[in-house]
Amino acid sequence: MQSRQQLPSSWTTLPVILATLALLVSPVFMVKHENFKTCDQSGFCKRNRQFADSASADKSWSSPYALDASTIKFSKGQLEGTILKSVAADEQIRLPVVVSFLETGSARVTIDEEKRQKGEIELRHNSKARKERYNESEKHAIVGSLKGSKDAKVADGAEKGTTVIYYGPDEKFQAVITHKPFGLTFKRDGKAQVQFNERGLLNVEHWRPKPPDVPAEEEKKEGEEAKVEEKKVEESGEDTSTWWEESFGGNTDTKPRGPESVALDISFPGFSVVYGIPEHASSMALKQTRGGDGNYNEPYRLFNADVFEYELDSPMTLYGSIPFMQAHSKDSTVGVFWLNGAETWVDIVKSTSKANPLSLGSKDFTTTQTHWFSESGLMDVFVFLGPTPSDVIKSYGELTGTTAMPQEFAIAYHQCRWNYVTDQDVKDVDKRFDKFNIPYDVIWLDIEYTDGKKYFTWDPLTFKNPDSMIKHLDKRSRKLVTIIDPHIKNTDSYPVVDALKKKDLAVHDKDNNIYEGWCWPGSSHWIDCLNPAAIEWWKSLFKYKAFVGTGSNVFIWNDMNEPSVFNGPETSMPRDNLHFQNWEHRDVHNIYGMTYHNATYQALLARSKAEEKSPRRPFVLTRAFFPGSQRTAAMWTGDNLAEWSHLAASLPMVLNQGIAGMPFAGADVGGFFGNPSKELLTRWYQAGAFYPFFRGHAHIDTRRREPYVAGEPYTGIMTQALRLRYSLLPAWYTAFREAHVYGTPIVRPNWFVHPEDEGGFALDDQLYLADTGLLFKPVVAEAANSVDIYLADDTPYFDYFTYKTYKGKGSHTIEAPLEKIPLLMRAGHIVPRRDRARRSSALMRNDPYTLVIVLGSDGKAAGELYFDDGESFDYEAGAYIHRTFSYADGKLSSADKYPEKGKGFDKYAKSVSKLRVERVVVVNPPAEWEKVAKVSVTQDGKEKYVKMSFVKGESGHASYAVVRDPKVQIVKDWGIVFA
Ligand code: GLC
Repeated sequence: MQSRQQLPSSWTTLPVILATLALLVSPVFMVKHENFKTCDQSGFCKRNRQFADSASADKSWSSPYALDASTIKFSKGQLEGTILKSVAADEQIRLPVVVSFLETGSARVTIDEEKRQKGEIELRHNSKARKERYNESEKHAIVGSLKGSKDAKVADGAEKGTTVIYYGPDEKFQAVITHKPFGLTFKRDGKAQVQFNERGLLNVEHWRPKPPDVPAEEEKKEGEEAKVEEKKVEESGEDTSTWWEESFGGNTDTKPRGPESVALDISFPGFSVVYGIPEHASSMALKQTRGGDGNYNEPYRLFNADVFEYELDSPMTLYGSIPFMQAHSKDSTVGVFWLNGAETWVDIVKSTSKANPLSLGSKDFTTTQTHWFSESGLMDVFVFLGPTPSDVIKSYGELTGTTAMPQEFAIAYHQCRWNYVTDQDVKDVDKRFDKFNIPYDVIWLDIEYTDGKKYFTWDPLTFKNPDSMIKHLDKRSRKLVTIIDPHIKNTDSYPVVDALKKKDLAVHDKDNNIYEGWCWPGSSHWIDCLNPAAIEWWKSLFKYKAFVGTGSNVFIWNDMNEPSVFNGPETSMPRDNLHFQNWEHRDVHNIYGMTYHNATYQALLARSKAEEKSPRRPFVLTRAFFPGSQRTAAMWTGDNLAEWSHLAASLPMVLNQGIAGMPFAGADVGGFFGNPSKELLTRWYQAGAFYPFFRGHAHIDTRRREPYVAGEPYTGIMTQALRLRYSLLPAWYTAFREAHVYGTPIVRPNWFVHPEDEGGFALDDQLYLADTGLLFKPVVAEAANSVDIYLADDTPYFDYFTYKTYKGKGSHTIEAPLEKIPLLMRAGHIVPRRDRARRSSALMRNDPYTLVIVLGSDGKAAGELYFDDGESFDYEAGAYIHRTFSYADGKLSSADKYPEKGKGFDKYAKSVSKLRVERVVVVNPPAEWEKVAKVSVTQDGKEKYVKMSFVKGESGHASYAVVRDPKVQIVKDWGIVFA
């Protein structure tokens, strides 16, 4: 873990010695590059890059794929046909293609291989693997409608050699299919937005028999056919060195199906920025990947992996993968979703044609060209034509699902470390939070709580009485999260592993025996949640009777589910391992982690249904993820470092999760490895208060760092940050509701909120909290006393705490000494809060609300408040309150967002009828209000007058007015007339 340096022989060079000693005492963190493949070390990545290079070097290059016009059929929004790949003068490979135009306005293109569909291939090494290309990613990722649109239609009179389809809202979308070479251009309002195979890099590595160049015994039988193949390959000059076998780090992948990658170039004409494809520790606006100043040399890699001590500003892979990308320009946002569960790489280059200086009005035109390649599986790509960022994310959410509505505690503060060491330790930490009046909702147990890393057990010496521990927490409305990983210890007298083996529910090796590898417990097996029977079994393990010592306030953390295997290739499983129904691990690698946390979600749901009167929403945290993960889990960014640079990097990472459809995201507050300085820790709490998932966590070798440890002024300042989070919980919960319904991000980058503002496209160090107008920029530099915040337009903003006014497009400096959180309020918004300091979110349930109305020059503002019981699924039957607040012409009104009610509404509304507004603060009110002493408040047709106070703003601070306790009920319509 630490790189040790040798002491110099001469002691006269004191500075060198001191520096060296410093290196010896403070650990040096560095990713082990040699453990992970570069593109050059990944056969199909290298081959596809070479393919791209030779295509662009060859002026006469033409893609060898053609759609056979005679095979085209169109019905019910779906075009089917066969693409022919020419491999020799007399040989063509048949690739069935389906282009679907969905009811929802999205389009989908799949390309398969006929021989493999029909199972007409031979596998080497007597492999039991399936012969088809993997076609079940959809089963795991997609929950939305795939129904074809009945309005999509083929245009008459298209140019010869093309087929044109009109589809989408008002048939504004168009897909132009070129037959030879095969290509597709997606247009909106006649303008090209997305192009497939424009550079001719479509590549489907078809199955072929292995030539007998190294005649292994078993392959002799392939005989004559194979010899012919060998000759063809020689003539083609292709690099075949990685076709049949690949070794890396001492592991050999036997590749029983040979080369089988799928690749496509996707261009975005007129788009200069692209975002998405998490997870990478990189900027939000994706960089070019083929060299040049400030660019990367490697493609972005998507291969779920446990990357120890990951580095920043890198396209290297991390723990999760979402192959969904948005391209953005000031008047258009579009998206592509490459649905593939195998290892995937994405190259990005940009080309700009310069404006003609002689032609008036001509502008530079940038095209972002991307190139996607996956190791195996179907080619399956969805296209979303926007036109706005929220349209694109909504379309993606319709397909893959939206973020689960969390229990309220889940969006409050979580206290974790590896490890709280005894049940008494847990109680002590809990008491200390109370003693210091620091709010928190959840305490976590890492792997050491188990008896020798056997999940579903407790260490008998250190956790003697888990029951009393969870009851202690429950009395204070607090929760416990325990870790359960997918590796199951391979040991005697452990009923869980006995059942796993007996029921045959684990992943198998290539020879179809139960796979064995190493992880925390030592020798382990891995549950295979692709198998429905494994999910059923998993459910049985979470019953209170089975996982003794748990109860309704215990929830689960799923870690190491990439899967992480300490002695496996790239710290994971061999790709020729076999899963349920003999799919190879290579096909499902990026999906595996999601199948596991989904199973845990199902298990918690089943537990709750069985054990509680009214089932409660599960909470699961996952490290690995895939499209669809948002439906059941929150994620965090894994093992970061207690360094300022990692604090800074967490912002783009969390923002990127939001725009990629998995917004319930956070980073370890304080940094996982290493000991943060008190200042860094404090700044990290201030930033963490704006992560959708807010958890402090630390490595086992670090010192304790709960917020009360640091002492003053740090403890007090961290407490203020935590209180700010708790006070804004009504706004956060409303944001989660919006994310749950529409798929929208919870924290949002500038480009998402101000799509037209080109100056803000690359901005990823400040964020908006949903639609509240709250704009936050964390301090991420040591000893900084201010930050520069960027405003996208001329709307006024006000400091959240002091109402200092900032106005004017561009950068503004905000003073930010340690105790100050740089947070602004944008004019035009109404923000709901709860201002009474409490020890947990549950204790705030009956607290009254404060509404903050922020006015600009047009004197208008609007906002929302959503809440429900914060626990159960009753909201699905209408047991929720969703209000809109609007202010115009001197009047504030509260109305129902949806006048139509579900059947659960009345009862719920009655139960919360006492909730009231205890304060209305108007920031930047008209100056005349200074003379207004009372405002008129109307509810239930009755009018009364309530006092208002006015404070005149001075030296750059806005005035504000406060109405104390208007006693209006949240569930009712009411109005306040101010002047
Ligand atoms: C992994 C996790 C980390 C956890 C540790 C022990 O490194 O990323 O959060 O504390 O495993 O379970």
